Amino acid sequence: MNRPATAPAVIHLRDATIGYGDVPIVRGADLTVGPGEAVAVLGSNGSGKTTLARGLLGLAAVLGGDVELLGAPVGRLSHRPPAQRGRVGYVPQRHSVTGAVPATVREVVGVGRLAHLGLFRRLGAADRAAVTDAVAAVGLADRLDDPVAALSGGQQRRVLVARALAAEPELLIMDEPTAGVDAASQEALAGVLARVSSGGTTLVVVTHETAPLAGVLTRAVVVDHGRISYDGPLLPGHTLDEPDPHHHPHDTAPRGYRMDQPTVTTRRGGSAEQGR
Ligand SMILES: Nc1ncnc2c1ncn2[C@@H]1O[C@H](COP(=O)(O)OP(=O)(O)OP(=O)(O)O)[C@@H](O)[C@H]1O
Ligand SMILES: [Mg+2]
Repeated sequence: MNRPATAPAVIHLRDATIGYGDVPIVRGADLTVGPGEAVAVLGSNGSGKTTLARGLLGLAAVLGGDVELLGAPVGRLSHRPPAQRGRVGYVPQRHSVTGAVPATVREVVGVGRLAHLGLFRRLGAADRAAVTDAVAAVGLADRLDDPVAALSGGQQRRVLVARALAAEPELLIMDEPTAGVDAASQEALAGVLARVSSGGTTLVVVTHETAPLAGVLTRAVVVDHGRISYDGPLLPGHTLDEPDPHHHPHDTAPRGYRMDQPTVTTRRGGSAEQGR
């Protein structure tokens, strides 16, 4: 590892291959995210954004290279190392909060506090305040004691966002938190994330629409066919369909320019062996 000791990386991938079973999806990924950064992960459907996020969390397999989260290796261990427990919040892309057991908004969001408690300890005043604050932040204060099953799809997504916020994590990974969420709630979420970010939390947000979070997210990582094809400033209006202003015409990859490692993405369309 050759990162500066003064600013240990929150996320560090080196030539990482991430996939399912033995099928690589994300290949040869190099990525370092420092404390307090606010990163948008962009890319078309099926490019590997969720797989990348899941790889960080140990939910997809690390098939090659190195993946480190908060200074601890991910992926080859059967469970998450203690160093990472409770320090990472995650909003999954697809997840139903409604289960067999009816749970209220307060209960589901309260789960976000569990990592802060010892085994068998109950939520204290600070925990209860964190829960109500998080629920208020996503605009559902008046639904605290409603069963989650009685909420709409967009409201349920906001419950998941609240659950992650309530954990007050050092690293918050959100997979399309604004998908299916109305404009007013997206704006509210942007405000919350701006506050969380200015408090020092590192943000990684997978999204197709950067506009609602434009003021918050400052760096873009573009995933294209499992490769990181762009890593640099998130420019206003940056979408996949627009030409990349940093694009070098001589690159073999369509967006092969990386601000930090200009040569690393020249391999393209590689085989499954790469990164192993
Ligand atoms: N659990 C899984 N098992 C096997 N293959 C998977 C699994 N999940 C995703 N894939 C495959 O990995 C590839 C990338 O999927 P991924 O979900 O990472 O894309 P994405 O960039 O998040 O797309 P979207 O914008 O639609 O959410 C796809 O080809 C998909 O079929
Ligand atoms: Mg996805």
